[in-house]
Amino acid sequence: MTLYINLAGIFMLALVASILAMFFNKSRPVAKFLLVFLTAILVVAVITVLYFRRPMEFEKHYVNTALPLETLLLNKRLQQAGMYLGAPPRNANQLDSHAYRHVFNSITPENDLKLGHLLDIETLEYDFTQADALVTEAIKRNIRVRGHALVWGKLSDIFNAPDLDLWLSHFPELERTAKLTHLLDLHITSVLNHYQGKILEWDVVNEPLEMFGRGQLEKNVFYRHLGEEYIERAFFKAKAIDPELQLYLNEQFFNYTDQRAEAFYQLVMSLLNKGVPIDGIGLQGHMVFHLATPEETAAYVKRFTSLGLKVQITEFEARLRLFSDAQDPYQAQGEYYRDVMRICYEIDGFDGITFWGVDDSISWLDDMSWLFPKPNEAYLLDAQQRAKPGLILIDQWLKAN
Ligand code: G3I
Repeated sequence: MTLYINLAGIFMLALVASILAMFFNKSRPVAKFLLVFLTAILVVAVITVLYFRRPMEFEKHYVNTALPLETLLLNKRLQQAGMYLGAPPRNANQLDSHAYRHVFNSITPENDLKLGHLLDIETLEYDFTQADALVTEAIKRNIRVRGHALVWGKLSDIFNAPDLDLWLSHFPELERTAKLTHLLDLHITSVLNHYQGKILEWDVVNEPLEMFGRGQLEKNVFYRHLGEEYIERAFFKAKAIDPELQLYLNEQFFNYTDQRAEAFYQLVMSLLNKGVPIDGIGLQGHMVFHLATPEETAAYVKRFTSLGLKVQITEFEARLRLFSDAQDPYQAQGEYYRDVMRICYEIDGFDGITFWGVDDSISWLDDMSWLFPKPNEAYLLDAQQRAKPGLILIDQWLKAN
């Protein structure tokens, strides 16, 4: 993202410079050429943005035949099949909804287990109240809990939750590496001890790669102070605290066939070769600009399961707009979800799909509608918690098995 902002800045500067040159400079032909060229790019960019933001509305045919959630018994079927279908609640009360009583059998707290939600960075005191309410309620309801996430650079760098650079700036430069190392160890120790026996699997490191590009490690706050060893340190620490835990490395991909996906595979290989205790790989699966096909997804999953690792899709969603060419986009979205789930569950070592929203009424995508214009409607239930085609198709597939 920063790269695009920088490029846009350079572009605007060049445009302004060529306009000024038109008036004050003697080399008018060059300036004129530049002006025409840059204006053309600007026009193309504006048209592209308008095209991707064009209003869209699709008919909800499924509403006429929508089955009430309580008639689906999906979570019972999942349990019998030993499969997991998850969603990320934002609070404990949500677990009392039909969605969790009849559909999902796994949760990943969307935000409650993140650093800034648990720790007051100024006092280094933990408050587990909110997270505990959610985790306790889930366990009571026999719902699996995924822990997300112990170490996530972007949480500081982008979301400032908390701003670790600011916190580190209170210490002399020479002490900062030691301070951040201590914080990393303290956090992993405190959280894993607190949830010992309750949360059995964790995203230990989240999003180690740069979001775009060829798969370089992101120079996030942990990398800047601890070097790339921060990744292995986190895993070794977690393993030392509880050897029974399932430890995941979680990453987002826009497709599974490019250089970045290959770089991630190489990263995992090199960590495993060093003896780093990674048990599983989380493929987030935010399909926000492009749809990875079910076959591409499965092929990438298999690369890791054939190394003896578990794999989960941890933050799945495909924006409705990506199906706008289909006759019935809701149906096409549902078929995509069913197909991904079906093909992945054919693979030994595949251990669950978690959607990154419970229903279409709440979504981080809609919170960022300047980037992800609506309709996003990416989940299995609609805003009124009615079953969308994906849910019915998954239910039918499970029933037939
Ligand atoms: O709860 C406050 C609310 O009171 C306030 O009015 C509002 C104002 O903006 O902010 C609300 O908190 C926001 C929270 O989401 C709930 O909406 C935070 O500012 C915002 O930073 C937070 O964003 C979360 C983000 O991670 C950062 O933690 C998103 O909900 C969450 O969906 C998103 O999830 C991440 C995964 O953890 C990792 N993979 C990518 C994924 C999407 O970004």
